[in-house]
Amino acid sequence: MLTDQLQRPFRDLRISVTDRCNFRCRYCMPRERFGEDFGFLPRSEVLSFEELTRVAAQCVALGVHKVRITGGEPLLRAELPRLIQMLRQLGDLDLALTTNGVLLPKHAADLKAAGLDRVTVSLDALDPITFQAMCDANYTPNDVLAGIKAAEKAGFGSIKINTVVKRGVNDQEILPIAQRFKGTGHVVRFIEYMDVGTTNGWRLDEVVTQAEILEKLRTTGTLTEIRPATDGVAQRFSYGDGTGEVGVIASVSQPFCGQCSRGRLSAEGKFYTCLFATSGLDLKSWLRSGKTDAELRALIEETWLRRGDRYSEIRASHTGPRRRIEMSYIGG
Ligand code: GTP
Ligand code: 5AD
Ligand code: SF4
Ligand code: SF4
Repeated sequence: MLTDQLQRPFRDLRISVTDRCNFRCRYCMPRERFGEDFGFLPRSEVLSFEELTRVAAQCVALGVHKVRITGGEPLLRAELPRLIQMLRQLGDLDLALTTNGVLLPKHAADLKAAGLDRVTVSLDALDPITFQAMCDANYTPNDVLAGIKAAEKAGFGSIKINTVVKRGVNDQEILPIAQRFKGTGHVVRFIEYMDVGTTNGWRLDEVVTQAEILEKLRTTGTLTEIRPATDGVAQRFSYGDGTGEVGVIASVSQPFCGQCSRGRLSAEGKFYTCLFATSGLDLKSWLRSGKTDAELRALIEETWLRRGDRYSEIRASHTGPRRRIEMSYIGG
């Protein structure tokens, strides 16, 4: 089995299909940095579905069994269900999508029919003013809730809801969001605000830690750790009253690099071995210069073999240059 320098296999591939988004979340794409004049990738630089599928096929041959489609906002990519259909042909993969949800009413049924297994929807507040303060979008929480409803109707069973928590902005939304989805079969995961990229002005004192999140959740009743205790990134808990599960993604206070089996492909075809990487392997130039599948596979394999990333574990002592990739570019 292919493993990296820290004996971690390559199991998950996250594919960003666009660097564009219809939201401007303050923690991801602050409007003053991602304005009208921002240099998004031109169409010619973005990998085609055929190119993406070719890379994914090599990753599957190297051991990947889970593929997650991200963005920017992936539903802005035209004809996305066609890509899902193509990836579905690669075999017995867990195929998932992370979205802000507002375009799900339009696309959920086609995505399901194309063979998508799971959707994860981001929702940072139920209160419209707080939602606006987090997401700075021309949409409301009701638009996201309508997206979740559409996904339910299309037949996506248990949906994961991602809530990034920022101190002083939406921490008062933790309980309302948890309550809203209790008993629905969906799983809310509260995410510690991370220092991804260089544009969000991240400060440690804005991070609401897992301990604080759990303290709030416990005011409504007991929480018990679920086995297995993590889903890869989230620590899982069940509500004492049997109304389901809730999770916390604590990559700041309790890093999970030791189990990190994720590789990431940007929309322009660069392969990254960490969310906090500064550079990636330029697969596009290889794809467009007539390399064979075996050559592509060997390149990815060598890159994984050399991988020693564990940024979240060494965050405090990290002194390197901060030219890191942005969340909207790599898709989380
Ligand atoms: P499933 O476990 O398949 O449901 O997906 P996921 O939780 O990996 O994907 P999702 O896109 O929902 O990501 C949830 C949050 O976890 C986002 O904030 C991601 O940026 C974060 N995350 C996912 N993978 C990593 C990782 O490898 N490192 C760090 N630091 N954060 C990650
Ligand atoms: N910290 C934590 N999570 C983030 N996301 C985007 N930016 C950040 C950040 N700085 C989340 C999104 C989405 C997921 C892919 O990553 O809200 O749910
Ligand atoms: Fe868009 Fe998601 Fe980034 Fe928000 S977090 S700006 S929805 S890509
Ligand atoms: Fe993986 Fe890098 Fe995140 Fe650690 S910081 S879990 S190595 S992506």
